[in-house]
Amino acid sequence: MTNEQIADKARALLRANNTGVFIKPGSQQYPHQWNWDAAFVALGLSYFDLARAQQEIRSLLKGQWKNGMLPHILYHHGASDYSPKPEFWQTASHPDAANIPTSGFTQPPILATCLRMMLKQFADKTSRLEFLAEVYPKILAWHRWFYTARDPEGSGLVAIIHPWESGNDNTPRFLDALQNLKPENVPQFTRADRAHVAAAERPHEEDYLRYIYLIGFYRDLAWDDKTIYQQAPFLVADLQFNVILHQANQDLLALARELGEDRGEIEAWLRKTEEGLNTLWDEEQGLYFDKDLCTGKLIRIKSAQALSPIYAGIPSRARAKRLIEEHLLNPEEFAPDGKSRYFVTTIAKNSPYYEPRRYWAGPVWINMNWLLWLGLKRYGYHDLAKTIRQHSLELVSSGFVEYYDPRDGSACGAKGFSWSAALALDLLVKEQ
Ligand code: GLC
Repeated sequence: MTNEQIADKARALLRANNTGVFIKPGSQQYPHQWNWDAAFVALGLSYFDLARAQQEIRSLLKGQWKNGMLPHILYHHGASDYSPKPEFWQTASHPDAANIPTSGFTQPPILATCLRMMLKQFADKTSRLEFLAEVYPKILAWHRWFYTARDPEGSGLVAIIHPWESGNDNTPRFLDALQNLKPENVPQFTRADRAHVAAAERPHEEDYLRYIYLIGFYRDLAWDDKTIYQQAPFLVADLQFNVILHQANQDLLALARELGEDRGEIEAWLRKTEEGLNTLWDEEQGLYFDKDLCTGKLIRIKSAQALSPIYAGIPSRARAKRLIEEHLLNPEEFAPDGKSRYFVTTIAKNSPYYEPRRYWAGPVWINMNWLLWLGLKRYGYHDLAKTIRQHSLELVSSGFVEYYDPRDGSACGAKGFSWSAALALDLLVKEQ
């Protein structure tokens, strides 16, 4: 398939997934608006329909709570066959809740980064500045919420309270933390996530039970940030989440400069988070890891996310070299060999947790490839960046799905997956 054909198909999918108010992340599996999906989608849309891209961001910001929190799911049109249903979260009575039903927690803050990329598409400076001035304070408020609600001790690392906040929902990185939970009073629930996707590609039953238990736990605390931070049975300084936040702060800083806004607060976040991220480096293994804040221990699992700090320019040259040359290029871990054909498996192939078709436990995801592609370019690894771009385009040319089996590129997860299309458009536009 030619690049032009890929682009045509990508645009057609985003149009087909348009509900009028937002773009569905997946044509059947995900009928509501998700936070980081919307940011990727807005970036993709900006290359052919800038007005629609702006609308995507405006729709997302409609779900923002008064305290700044930007939820991970927005139910603009009420319930569907997707579960958890809007009522399940019991967020409506929260004094800060939005006017539309939403989930009670957030997702990776990649919005400022996608926004900054997308703003390049405005030919007219006045409308660019107008749009930026409209959305900037809202994104700033979200980031401020992170540093108050999720890092009240000022460590520079913000915490996530649920695996779903990471966006890597069932990653094996959180298995131990989940196993330490003692699920009790688990609310009644039905799993709708296997209606459109094979059970073998979705989370295990015992993990799902714990996801629901955690939602019930926070619901019982009436989604109060302070109590949640003190009592959360799952509290993780998620590496990639903080990396994404750090990059988003760099982008927010540039946007603040453009608007002539005060930059002191953002500069302070940048200093603190850079310091925090460097505490997650493991010299022996040559990787960064997440930290379980309940046990105080690093979570030493070899994942694509462990390489993500290159995306935000965190590692020194020497550390980046180790990440890339000892790990990303290692055929036993992430590089293609007889066992896999495509970059980048989400879990290292020689890890006991590697499952090549299960959700975040092994398959290739286009957004992970995209992050690493940007990171590699940042550190001057242009040939490898090119290869990862090429692999991503090859994968999407057989269809835009949620994730891909690294052994043969076959489709896994949800069909008609919007961010695979949106990011393919970005990969195509940026060429290398
Ligand atoms: C899955 C993914 C999450 C994504 C959502 C909607 O839950 O793990 O990252 O935002 O689907 O696509």
